[in-house]
Amino acid sequence: MIYNDKEILVFDDIEKIIDYAVEKWTEVAEEAVKERGYFTAALSGGRTPVMLHKALSAKKDLPWDRTHVFIVDERFVPSDHEDSNYLMINNTLLKHVRIPSENIHPVQTENSTPVLSAEKYEKDMLSFFNISENEFPRFDLIFLGIGEDGHTASLFPGTPALKETRHLAAAVTQSVKPGKERVTLTFPAINNAENIILMATGGDKAAAIREVIEGNGSLPAAMVRPDRGKLFFLLDKNAASLLSL
Ligand code: 6PG
Repeated sequence: MIYNDKEILVFDDIEKIIDYAVEKWTEVAEEAVKERGYFTAALSGGRTPVMLHKALSAKKDLPWDRTHVFIVDERFVPSDHEDSNYLMINNTLLKHVRIPSENIHPVQTENSTPVLSAEKYEKDMLSFFNISENEFPRFDLIFLGIGEDGHTASLFPGTPALKETRHLAAAVTQSVKPGKERVTLTFPAINNAENIILMATGGDKAAAIREVIEGNGSLPAAMVRPDRGKLFFLLDKNAASLLSL
């Protein structure tokens, strides 16, 4: 159902969410490759995306050689650390598909600082998307999650990164989840995407989902408002249980 420019889809369980998300990925990837020759996706960390990545890794017929994967946010830990989002994404997806290593765009966390790493990540995006500093990348597809506090990516309530209007990536030092220091895409980078899919499952996300979809728009995840693209909420019944729609 469409509600305030958001497509709200409620599913019986996470398996059905994943089936829909894989279909969407396939549709967007094939369209992007046909139109432009390549497809760009940005993936989040956390637990929710794991099943999606495993389902995608079984789709060997997707145009992996034309697919570029970026990271929505990264904990500022080495890439082999158990909290690393890159490690999770690599273990659940990237190493199982024929995606060229040059098509994988991680956040550099070794021998750096969160600020320098955010600056380098931004430079990588400017170069890849061939844009200047006052332009924004147009990802074909961004997958987001949501925390119980309404954060998304590593954009946590009350943190300075929420206010970023120019830079594409920001350093975060007040994460409330594992990995105190992080690097995250900012809203300028997120909200210029063609398609954004926010997935949420479980009753522990229900209050945040209600506030984001029906509230006053103050939570970080409510600030995900694509300028021109489409925004989908893929929810299971528990995460949608407090919605009045
Ligand atoms: C991270 C994620 C984060 C995540 C939400 C939901 O680095 O932790 O990018 O924003 O999407 O916290 O996490 P779960 O999917 O584990 O509930």
